[in-house]
Amino acid sequence: MKFFVDTADINDIRDLASTGLLDGVTTNPSLIMKAGKAFIPLIEEICSVVSGPVSAEVASTDYETMLKEGKKLAKIAKNVAVKVPLTPAGLKVCKALSDEGTMVNVTLCFSASQAILAAKAGAAFISPFVGRLDDIGADGLNLIADIVEIYNNYDDWNTEVLVASVRHPIHIVESAKIGAHVVTCPPDVIKKLYSHPLTDKGLAAFVEDWKKTGQSIL
Ligand code: G3P
Repeated sequence: MKFFVDTADINDIRDLASTGLLDGVTTNPSLIMKAGKAFIPLIEEICSVVSGPVSAEVASTDYETMLKEGKKLAKIAKNVAVKVPLTPAGLKVCKALSDEGTMVNVTLCFSASQAILAAKAGAAFISPFVGRLDDIGADGLNLIADIVEIYNNYDDWNTEVLVASVRHPIHIVESAKIGAHVVTCPPDVIKKLYSHPLTDKGLAAFVEDWKKTGQSIL
């Protein structure tokens, strides 16, 4: 399973990249707004830190402008994945860019039928939003299971399921059990994956007992 971080905060990205566990980055207009930096240079900087896919989202909603924006974003770096919304125009842009060899991440997916269309449009990634579905009383992880099952039926579909809108470690663990290809998580959720009180307690005891031996390894 690949780990992407869902942020445009360059410090968090550098920090997570240094763990050696980070495979990519996803951004969206809301995260860019939060970062408060100029979009194009920021994506350029992120691409210089992370060699895996870096999603940069188009801002328009009509086909012609989205296509122009997508082509411009794709030129920033080889590892840019152009992010487009799951609309008829967005999928048309996805097909056009994918046919040219550009990675496309189709975002705002909330149904299996939408995910089928994204695969047919040649998307490199489909981003179903699990947290936002859970928020309205639906089952986000159930959608992930449906999409993975459907995609596994077709060898000629190479679209990876990128679980987005991740809110807690259970979303990640369950997505891994289902066999989703990628999860994109806010930095704080990635940090939570490490934590267990018994690890902290056990380590404290080992450190204390080691001191009592009076020995040193180095
Ligand atoms: O990048 C898209 C997605 O991950 C957004 O998540 O928490 O705003 O629903 P959230």
